[in-house]
Amino acid sequence: MTAVHSPTAADSGASASANFRSTAREGLAVSPERVSTVVTAVLHAVHSAIREHDVTYLEFQAAKRWLMDLGEGGEWPLFLDVFVEHVVEEVAARTQDGTKGSILGPYYLPDQVSLPSVCTLPRRPDEQGDPLTFSGRVTDLAGRPLAGAELDIWHADAEGYYSGFAPGIPAGNLRGVVTTDAGGRFEITTVQPAPYQIPTDGPTGRLIDAAGWHPWRPAHLHLVVRAPGHRPITTQLYFAGGEYVDSDVAEAVKPELVLTPSGQRVSYDFVLEPA
Ligand SMILES: [Fe+2]
Repeated sequence: MTAVHSPTAADSGASASANFRSTAREGLAVSPERVSTVVTAVLHAVHSAIREHDVTYLEFQAAKRWLMDLGEGGEWPLFLDVFVEHVVEEVAARTQDGTKGSILGPYYLPDQVSLPSVCTLPRRPDEQGDPLTFSGRVTDLAGRPLAGAELDIWHADAEGYYSGFAPGIPAGNLRGVVTTDAGGRFEITTVQPAPYQIPTDGPTGRLIDAAGWHPWRPAHLHLVVRAPGHRPITTQLYFAGGEYVDSDVAEAVKPELVLTPSGQRVSYDFVLEPA
């Protein structure tokens, strides 16, 4: 791949904000009691942190300026997906059987190309990266195969960039919706994704730098797996031994979701519960 693109936080932030606005559901009806309960708890947590750590006026003003920058830079989806979503997912997972879930993240795009059970993800003619074959089955809780289940899969390229968010990558690259065969099976050929840094040149990156954290996510495959009559699962799969598997900035790794590669092959069986 030629290094024609130099993605910026502003690019990714603007794309993630526009994507969220176009796909998020609006008009959620929430009772005043619920709003008051949750918002009061959030404010109390902030008040406690200020008291506990003797936060000064100068620090309060710096935080205010940073929050304004976060909004103006379009980085609220990035910041919330990296630092907060994993706990929302943890709460949702309390009532979920079958395959463990993980965060959706800011880089999902709906309506990708439909692919058969044995397929190769769309890629550039000169796509870089080691070959990767990802196979498995989709079953219900009783182990019965789910024919016609959909694996909506997307992942970063060998440089850690996503189509639709980094400039210079064709639309739909390394994305697709794969349908399982009569036995619930799939076999997807693609390339090994790279670990990536979340964008570091904007306000989220400034925070990570100021706090002395690192901005890396381990290499991963993103998936939403759906089948009629079953609860869809949003998850990510990681690679044993990979960099940052033990220190994901987004805290989205679960041990059950770490694959052990055999050469250039990995496999995983998804289990969906009834809707
Ligand atoms: Fe990702």
